[in-house]
Amino acid sequence: MRPIRIALTKGRLEKRTISLFQTMGLNCSELINKGRRLILPVDDYEVVLAKAADVITYVEHGACDIGIVGKDTIVEKGGDYYEMTDLGFGKCYFALAAKKNFDFYNGYKEKIIASKYPNVAHSFFENKGMDVNIIKIEGSVELAPLLNFADAIVDIVETGTTLKENGLEVIEEIMPISARVIVNMASMKLRKEEIESFLSDIELAKEVSK
Ligand code: PRP
Repeated sequence: MRPIRIALTKGRLEKRTISLFQTMGLNCSELINKGRRLILPVDDYEVVLAKAADVITYVEHGACDIGIVGKDTIVEKGGDYYEMTDLGFGKCYFALAAKKNFDFYNGYKEKIIASKYPNVAHSFFENKGMDVNIIKIEGSVELAPLLNFADAIVDIVETGTTLKENGLEVIEEIMPISARVIVNMASMKLRKEEIESFLSDIELAKEVSK
C-alpha cells in the first residue's frame, strides 16, 4: 500500500505546518530542503505541495488522503470531503472593501464587485438581497477599485497592510478564516487507523503549541 499522502498548500501555510509536523515528532528535513521537488517523504507520510484549490481537488478525488488548506478555499470551492480540524493558524478574514470614504451602500446603480472568490461574494450579497455584478480577478484584487474597474472587492485581509497602502478600507467583515485539515471520504473508511492516528497526533501537537 502506498504511504498516506498529505496535500499541503504551498506558500503562506507551509512554515506553520512544518513546525506543527515537527511538534508531532515528524522528520521534516526533506520537506525543509525540498529544492524544486513537489513530493517529499516525511517519516512514513508523503507530503505533496500544491496550490490551495488543487489540494481540495486531490483530496476530494482520493489522489491524496489528507489536505491542509485554508477555510477560504474550502468555502469558495466546496466539494465532498471531511473537514476535520481547525489548525488555529493562517488566521485572516474575508472582507468587503473599497476606496477610503466611498459610500458603498448609497445610490441605485448596480455595483461591480471584483473578487478572487466569486462564490463567497455571491452568497454574501445574496444574503443581503442585493444585486451586484461580480467579476472574477486572479490576484491583487485591490487593483480593481484603484483602476475604477470595480466599486468594491471581496478579498482576504490578514494584516490590513495591502488595503492601507493602497488607500482602501474594510466596509464589512464577512467571515473569519484559518487553516483546516480535510480528509478524503473513502480514505477515512479504508485507512481509518492511520488517519485517526495522524489526526490525534495533530490534536496533541496543537495543545503543545498553544
Ligand atoms: C492576499 C489578499 C490580499 C493580501 C492581504 O493576497 O488577496 O491581497 O493577501 O494581506 P494583508 O492584509 O496582510 O496585506 P496574496 O498575497 O495571497 O496574493 P494575491 O495577490 O495573488 O491574492
